[in-house]
Amino acid sequence: LAPGTTVPFVPTTPLAVPTANATGPVAFPDGFLWGAATASYQVEGAGAEGGRQDSIWDVFARIPGAVKNGDDGMVACDQYHRYPEDVALMQRLNLDTYRFSTSWARVMPDGKTLNPEGVDYYSRLVDELLGAGILPWLTLYHWDLPQALEEQGGWPVRDTALRFVDYAVAMHEALGDRVKVWTTLNEPWCSAFLGYTSGAHAPGRKSPADGLAAAHHLMLAHGSAVQALRERDPEASLGLTLNFTVSDPVDPDDPADVDAARRDDGMFNRLFLDPILRGAYPQDLLDDVAHLGLTDHVRPGDLEIISTPIDVLGVNYYNGGAVSARPQVARDVEPDGTAGPDGARETTEGAPVWEVRSPNPVPDGIYHHSRGLPTTDMGWEVQPEGLTRLLLRLQEDYTGPRGTALFITENGAAYPDVVQADGTVDDQDRLDFIDQHLRATKDAIDAGVDVRGYFAWSLMDNFEWALGYSKRFGVVHVDYETQERTVKASGRWYGQVAADNVVPE
Ligand code: NOJ
Repeated sequence: LAPGTTVPFVPTTPLAVPTANATGPVAFPDGFLWGAATASYQVEGAGAEGGRQDSIWDVFARIPGAVKNGDDGMVACDQYHRYPEDVALMQRLNLDTYRFSTSWARVMPDGKTLNPEGVDYYSRLVDELLGAGILPWLTLYHWDLPQALEEQGGWPVRDTALRFVDYAVAMHEALGDRVKVWTTLNEPWCSAFLGYTSGAHAPGRKSPADGLAAAHHLMLAHGSAVQALRERDPEASLGLTLNFTVSDPVDPDDPADVDAARRDDGMFNRLFLDPILRGAYPQDLLDDVAHLGLTDHVRPGDLEIISTPIDVLGVNYYNGGAVSARPQVARDVEPDGTAGPDGARETTEGAPVWEVRSPNPVPDGIYHHSRGLPTTDMGWEVQPEGLTRLLLRLQEDYTGPRGTALFITENGAAYPDVVQADGTVDDQDRLDFIDQHLRATKDAIDAGVDVRGYFAWSLMDNFEWALGYSKRFGVVHVDYETQERTVKASGRWYGQVAADNVVPE
C-alpha cells in the first residue's frame, strides 16, 4: 500500500440473495464481541447538572422548528441518573461491550477547562461496566461540541482540532487506567455536512465550504488525538467510526448515473477513507469541489497526521442507495430545471439530499431512487447484502493492507413499535433486520474479512437528533413518561445471540 494513493470508485452489482448464510444457524468466530451503542446527548439527560453547559445540540434544539415536536435532550433516557439500572440491563442482554460517548460539554463546559464532576460521571459509569464484566468502548465525539467552541468558529476552524486533542488527553488521563478502547469520532460526515452544509443538524449552518473545512479539521482532530493517545498508551486500541453508504448507479450503462454514484460514494465514503487509511484526498473529489476552498485548509503534514495508523475502523451501516443524476419522477423537476418539491427532497435525517449528499449545486445533483426494497420508519431501504459488499471493499482497499480490524459499531432500524397491554413490544421487523445484517456480516467473514464485533443501534430508544423522540431504534423500549425500560422481542433474541455466539435458525 503506497502512501498517498487513493482508490477510484468502481460500482459493484447487488449480490444475489439468498446467500450462503441466509438460512439456518450461523456461528460467529470465537471471541466475536457483542455490544450495543448509544451516545451522550441521545441518552444522558441531566442537561444542566453537574456543571454541564450547552453543547451545540442544546442551542440548536431551542430553535423553533429545528427538532421535531420541539424535543430536546434535557432529560432523554436519564441515563446520567439511571446508569446502574442500564448496566444491569446490558448484563441481562449478555452484552460483552457497551459503546457510549462522553459529552465534551459535560467534561469541559467552556471547551477547555476540566470539570471534575463531569469526568466523575464517566468514571462511575466505567466502574459500573467493569464491575458487570462489560468492556467500556468509549467514543470521544458523538456530535455534541461545546457551544463555547462553536462561538469561536466550530469545526470549520482549525483551532477546534487542537482543543479536541486536549480533551482527548484529559479523558485518557482520567480513564485510561480502565478504558482500553478509544474511538475519536463518530460519523464525521454527519458532523461536517449535516451540521455545517445542510443545516439539518446542530449547529445548523448552511455552507458547502464550511462543511468541507469542518471535514478536514475533524480528520485532523482525529489523527492528532490518535498520535497523542498512542504516545501515552501504546497498548490501547484506537480508531474512529465512519458512516457508509453503498452507491449503486440506477442505470450502470448510463455514464451520468455512474458519475452520480461516484460523487455520492466520494462524499460519503472516500472523502474520509482515503485521507485516513491511504493518506490522500481522492483527486476526483478535489476536482469536484475545487471551487469550495478545501485545499486552503490543508497544511503540509496534515495528511501524515490524518493517516496515523489506527487499530480499528468502526463501520456504521444502515443502507445504501440507488443513485442517479436525474430525479426519479419527471414531474419533480421545475420548468427552470431545478429540483421540485418531491423528487429532490428525499431526506436523510431530515435534510434535502441535494444539499447533504454533495456540496455540488443542484444541477449537478445526486438523486436517490426507490428500487422497491422494504424500508424502515426512517424511509431507509433494508439492504443487508450492501453490508457484505461494503465490508469486502473496506477489507480489500483500505483496512486489510494495514491490518486494521473492522467492527460494526452501529446497525439497526427504527420501526413504529406497538406497546401491548402488558407492556411488551413484539418487534419482529427489527429482529429480522438485525438477523439479516448479522447473516450478511457472516458472509463477509466467511469471505475473509476481519470483522471482530457487532453493536446494535441502539441499546434503547433515545433522542433521534432532528427527529426527536419520534423514531425508536432501541432493542429496549423506553417509556419517556415513566422512564421504564422494557426489553423488546428483538432485545431478548439479541441477548440469546450474544450468549450463544450463534444466530439461530
Ligand atoms: C448514526 C448515529 O451515530 C446515531 O447517533 C443515530 O441515532 C443513528 N445513526 C440512527 O440514525
